[in-house]
Amino acid sequence: MADMPNRVCIIGAGSSGISAAKTLKERGIPFDCYEAGDRVGGNWVYENRNGMSSAYKSLFINTSKPRMQFSDYPMPDHYPVFPHHTQIAEYFNNYVEHFNVKQHIRFNTTVTSAIPLENGGWEITLHDGSTHRYRALLVANGHHWDPRWPEPPFEGHFDGSVIHSHYYKTPDAYMDKQVLVLGFGNSAMDIAVETSRVSAMTYLAVRRGFHIIPKYILGRPLDQQAIPKFIPWAWQRKLIGPIIRLQVGKLSDFGLPEPDYPILHAHPTVSSEILNRITHGCIKPKPNIQRLDGDGVIFTDGSRERVDCIIYCTGYKVTFPFFRPEHIVAKNNDLPVFRRVFHPRYPDLFFIGLLQPLGAIMPLAELQSKWVSRYLLGKYALPSPEEMMQDIQREREEMRKRYGNSPRHTMQVDVEPYVVGVLKEMERGAKRSQRLPLIKQEAPAAQDASLSPELIPHLAHQNQRHHQN
Ligand SMILES: Cc1cc2nc3c(=O)[nH]c(=O)nc-3n(C[C@H](O)[C@H](O)[C@H](O)COP(=O)(O)OP(=O)(O)OC[C@H]3O[C@@H](n4cnc5c(N)ncnc54)[C@H](O)[C@@H]3O)c2cc1C
Ligand SMILES: NC(=O)c1ccc[n+]([C@@H]2O[C@H](COP(=O)([O-])OP(=O)(O)OC[C@H]3O[C@@H](n4cnc5c(N)ncnc54)[C@H](OP(=O)(O)O)[C@@H]3O)[C@@H](O)[C@H]2O)c1
Repeated sequence: MADMPNRVCIIGAGSSGISAAKTLKERGIPFDCYEAGDRVGGNWVYENRNGMSSAYKSLFINTSKPRMQFSDYPMPDHYPVFPHHTQIAEYFNNYVEHFNVKQHIRFNTTVTSAIPLENGGWEITLHDGSTHRYRALLVANGHHWDPRWPEPPFEGHFDGSVIHSHYYKTPDAYMDKQVLVLGFGNSAMDIAVETSRVSAMTYLAVRRGFHIIPKYILGRPLDQQAIPKFIPWAWQRKLIGPIIRLQVGKLSDFGLPEPDYPILHAHPTVSSEILNRITHGCIKPKPNIQRLDGDGVIFTDGSRERVDCIIYCTGYKVTFPFFRPEHIVAKNNDLPVFRRVFHPRYPDLFFIGLLQPLGAIMPLAELQSKWVSRYLLGKYALPSPEEMMQDIQREREEMRKRYGNSPRHTMQVDVEPYVVGVLKEMERGAKRSQRLPLIKQEAPAAQDASLSPELIPHLAHQNQRHHQN
């Protein structure tokens, strides 16, 4: 360990990686951040040179701006409630410029391999073949860039064009065509609505019912409801169901299957437009594909439609191409990490932004970065690997109970309970910690506000309550 550099590696400069870089910089923790693209922002950089962005030209966020912004850098007042992807990319760029983080990021640099060393630390190989050693590794490579195609593939053959939503950019190619969009997540909603404006017909094939949540509920953005905060989250969830039901109506009246689960027991499908397009006759709901049939598709109800193009909006795989499978692999999208951050087997490996919140990822990536910084500086100690595995198993069981056993729902978190849980764990680990820092601070560090109520402004009441306990 004596020859191990006092330095941390960050893979990725999307919103998660830049939050980590900014936090480490503020705490005087030396690091290198490698970014495959030529700018920060990852998914939010339309046509990103890294080829990994799933943004389409018309993409707007579906988590409202105050919920998506970092705690100490509000989005500009002139931004709308649900900004366009260009504004989100601009915001992330301004963030790194404002906090002088940009010069610490090595752009156009892909990490091709990350190997754990026998006595701790990581050997990182870059695309130019150079190798570098680091004391610890933060992984922020994103989890919405590697397309998950239908598995198993549908039987039969199809003569028309087929793409995954990851590659969808504009509706131009669908003008006057018979289009089939498969899936009931947010990509399927946005893309079906958009193609339906130019296509001869857009079919929307769904294999089960989902609750559709409008962007505005009772006159407020979906994630800024006026439910009193003293009501526990479990009850808030129960209250929101009937409100949405009243506003949206019965989905079977629109030709869609009724969901067979309570609201927020699947990743939210958000759309204020899909039902309108159905009622205008521009989108026709269909059940799942049974088989491909030359110039058309046969559905599970036995109906057949002639189709020119299929767009599979079937989600993403969680992959880490730089890890060897014998070290780290997320089989069926499931990577067992403690509170979505710490790997029980590698005490110097951390994941930032590897979670699917019912809300925005950014403030949680910020919290995770502060948590990891405390760990690196010896101010927080982990529970034993056995305790972490028990915690992971408990979370996994809760998730399966609520969401079912599917690769789509392996890392779900509710924002408020997650934040409160991490803050409590940070306090527990601070009391446990008697260990030496993993990293020596290089520069004088800014005050560590990790446990302050300002951490996530809209959750301040939760943190205050927690601090009073
Ligand atoms: C269409 C779409 C819309 C979405 N809308 C929302 C929304 O409204 N609100 C929300 O909260 N979330 C949304 N998400 C989720 C999205 O994952 C997050 O918004 C956010 O992009 C996560 O940031 P990230 O930094 O973790 O990942 P990414 O944005 O994917 O960034 C990862 C970065 O890592 C870099 N990288 C990866 N591998 C390497 C490597 N080997 N070497 C070097 N660099 C590497 C990439 O180049 C990239 O810049 C959406 C996702 C999609 C697909
Ligand atoms: N405007 C926005 O902000 C926006 C837009 C797009 C995406 N996003 C985000 O990006 C992420 C990915 O969203 P996504 O919609 O691309 O993927 P997703 O949420 O994983 O949804 C995939 C959909 O495809 C279905 N599916 C998967 N395999 C199938 C198969 N073989 N046959 C039939 N149906 C199948 C799934 O059904 P099951 O549930 O039954 O598996 C689900 O309905 C999410 O976090 C989402 O919120 C945001």
